[in-house]
Amino acid sequence: MHSFRYRQGLLHCERASLEELASNYGTPLYVYSSQTILEHYRKLDLALADLDHEICFALKANSNISVLQLLAKEGSGFDIVSGGELYRVIRAGGDPRKCTFAGAGKTADEIAYALSVDVLSFNVESEQELIAINEIAGRLGKIAPVALRVNPDVAVETHKYISTGKAENKFGIGFERIPEVYRNAARLRNLRLCGIQTHIGSQITEVSPFAEVITKLLPLVASLQKDYGIEFFSIGGGIGIAYHDALQSGDQGWWKNHEPTFTIQEYADAILPILRGIPVRVLIEPGRYLVGNAGVLLTRVLYIKESPTKTFVIVDSGMNDLIRPALYQGYHEIVPVRESASEKKFTVDVVGPVCESGDFFAQGRELPAIRAGEVLALMSAGAYGFTMASNYNSRLLPAEILVTGADAQIVRRRQTYDDLISLEMG
Ligand code: LLP
Repeated sequence: MHSFRYRQGLLHCERASLEELASNYGTPLYVYSSQTILEHYRKLDLALADLDHEICFALKANSNISVLQLLAKEGSGFDIVSGGELYRVIRAGGDPRKCTFAGAGKTADEIAYALSVDVLSFNVESEQELIAINEIAGRLGKIAPVALRVNPDVAVETHKYISTGKAENKFGIGFERIPEVYRNAARLRNLRLCGIQTHIGSQITEVSPFAEVITKLLPLVASLQKDYGIEFFSIGGGIGIAYHDALQSGDQGWWKNHEPTFTIQEYADAILPILRGIPVRVLIEPGRYLVGNAGVLLTRVLYIKESPTKTFVIVDSGMNDLIRPALYQGYHEIVPVRESASEKKFTVDVVGPVCESGDFFAQGRELPAIRAGEVLALMSAGAYGFTMASNYNSRLLPAEILVTGADAQIVRRRQTYDDLISLEMG
């Protein structure tokens, strides 16, 4: 479900015309719908209402402070992976005591920072990290709350770069070794064993792996609760979203009919019976589900180029603005913000200005007739869009807009050439 619809032939985000936003603020431009973000948050919260639970938004998906503010006001916790993300949460008015700190390579400075603001938990990925946290906590006169991240060795169908729960991935500690590592951790004086965590991957489009991993870990959770009094089980993120046919579908059934993915109710129906009666609080770390379909990247067509074999639509956004197609062969639906009057379709490649052959948004895509100067929307770009953007080719980072009803707020201005070199000496 999302709030991007054609009204009188013009694509709108809620009640704001995207063509108008592109004219007013320029392109490339990220536009987010606050209504969609809140709706997704509330839907998930409601679906889990039977459980003692906490939603910790994985802000690697979208870390704009205004987006974080929106979720913080709603009561969300946060899943962070760096000192920078923690800083953003705090600047957004989020509660650090609702932050889980994940990641395989936390530095001493980051650990000290997180201890100083009393994060909810360090989700620990190795024994050396446990020892480092214990030592830093001792030095600061703190007791560090820790949860081990379990690598459950469960396979999921997703791109290999975003699958994390198999034994060969770098993430977590092997399932078989977990009891022993907790025993060792319990001897470290400056640690408090507060939970257990897992995350099997991202953009998962079927519910069975979630049910499988929870079923596999449940006896472990019960025994850790008994032995060490752990307080939570974090089931990670990973809920997949629909990337195809986002606009063709109606309000209902949009998830189901167009892509092999599941509704939040189906997700809850699959995991709630297993989790019912669990002796600890359940944490969930969604990123993409909350923000993915809540955002688009607007781009203007610069040129149309016909080659002997292909038609290229050359746009003013590149892989530096949205890297998902280049990095994961990610699919993003592309639609003109001015609805096409004709049903006729043409096969084109939509490419950016970056000097790389991998700089494309679509290859061999059927699109209506596209003209130079018009604005296109790359759909479902609210997650892992801006957060993965870079200055490659010395291109300026795009601006970001947050829409609420008819109101469009600029929540990050476009970089300038001065910004681009502002940290360089010379
Ligand atoms: N928790 C942990 C420990 C994670 O590593 C991740 C994502 C999440 C939660 C949130 O996962 P989500 O609910 O968003 O699937 N850049 C890639 C996705 C990378 C995901 C990394 N970890 C993409 O654009 O598809």
